[in-house]
Amino acid sequence: MILDLDGAALARAIHVASVVHWIGGVWFVTFVVLPAVARFAEPERAVALFEAVEHRFAGQARLSTLAAAASGFWMTGVWSAWDRFLDPRFFWMHAMVALWAVFTVVLFVAEPLFLHAWFERRARLAPEATMRLVLRLHRVLSTLALIVVAVAALGAHGGL
Ligand code: HEM
Repeated sequence: MILDLDGAALARAIHVASVVHWIGGVWFVTFVVLPAVARFAEPERAVALFEAVEHRFAGQARLSTLAAAASGFWMTGVWSAWDRFLDPRFFWMHAMVALWAVFTVVLFVAEPLFLHAWFERRARLAPEATMRLVLRLHRVLSTLALIVVAVAALGAHGGL
């Protein structure tokens, strides 16, 4: 057999691939696309391009957040490691789930229900200020996400 994987190893591979796709994509939008479009002379063009990029990536990110959670809970189930969530030494497990919960609420609840409409309304009235606010929020979330990736890798490999 070419692949001789147990369930947890396969789940870990899916987990890492989903996290790379999702957090890497968010980081790219935040620190590459957003600063570039924010320099456009017409702020309306910046808002339109940002919306197009964010909309395209949000669809993909919904899939990778689902895959990250499914594979993460799959590993936890395979090892019957649910009691980690009661042990403060496994704070890095809580950090992963908390970060995932924030993105899930934004992508599946806030965005379709009101965030998108709010952004459009505010961007029409004050495009530059709205882009600045969006950039700041993205920076905070992307930096937090990268810290959680590093802390989770340390936690998973006995470094904490
Ligand atoms: C519902 C959400 C999540 C659950 C249930 C979950 C669960 C898990 C579990 C059980 C492990 C294996 C730990 C071990 O080997 O002892 C793991 C590893 C890991 N997770 Fe998560 N996770 C979730 C979300 C995330 C998020 C949002 C990130 C990134 C920001 C992340 C990044 C990682 C990383 C980097 C590893 C280490 C992989 C390795 O080096 O082997 N996870 N996760």
